[in-house]
Amino acid sequence: MEPAEERSTEGNRAPGSSDDVSSVTIDVHEHEGSLYRVLSSAIVPRAIAWVSTCNPDGTDNLAPYSFATVASVDPPVVLFAPVDGANGLKDTPRNVEATGEFVLNFVTEDLAPAMNETSATLEAGESEFDHAGLERAPSVTVDPPRVKKSPIALECTLRELHPVGGSTLVLGDVQYVHLDDSVTTGGTIDIEHVDPIGRLAGSWYARAGDRFSLDRPR
Ligand SMILES: Cc1cc2nc3c(=O)[nH]c(=O)nc-3n(C[C@H](O)[C@H](O)[C@H](O)COP(=O)(O)O)c2cc1C
Repeated sequence: MEPAEERSTEGNRAPGSSDDVSSVTIDVHEHEGSLYRVLSSAIVPRAIAWVSTCNPDGTDNLAPYSFATVASVDPPVVLFAPVDGANGLKDTPRNVEATGEFVLNFVTEDLAPAMNETSATLEAGESEFDHAGLERAPSVTVDPPRVKKSPIALECTLRELHPVGGSTLVLGDVQYVHLDDSVTTGGTIDIEHVDPIGRLAGSWYARAGDRFSLDRPR
């Protein structure tokens, strides 16, 4: 069976519409089933938070989460929102709850296959770093290691775990930032040197290579 966050759902034809009118409506309160496919296809592309944690016995864990963004700049706070698994919290939020720490690693296109590997469900005690053949680099302020090849990593401490229905919002205070020289100019991130991927729906991803610039109105 598809995992809960992958189950799709279908809407209705718009009231009064004929079959050839391209309009579908969903009254969430009358709808049975998950809106996962609708939401995860509507809000795209999404950044991928590749989150490393340690469980209390010290084994490290690494998993991608694409319901993720910046929550605040001052103070610097990031968030990701895992859907609960069949047995409650997934390992990442469980580890964050137990240890209060995580690292948010950035995913570049060359790291995408390894990132995907780390979404596998492994035996307890096996680390996704080893499963995906990823080198660790030590963090400075927290225990979980970061992904050595990831050019941007944010070391975070838990600010708040907030249940939202069948998901859990994880808010983390950024404590320390790693920026590889390959993505910086003049000491800060140069977006022209960053090669991110975004998650679309299902197994689809987007490259951010085709860019354009728009000046903001005054
Ligand atoms: C690109 C990508 C994005 C994902 N985003 C999410 C997400 O936002 N929420 C979620 O619950 N699972 C998401 N998953 C699935 C988790 O990575 C997967 O359930 C993983 O096994 C969780 O690992 P953990 O139990 O070690 O935390 C995503 C998987 C991939 C490949």
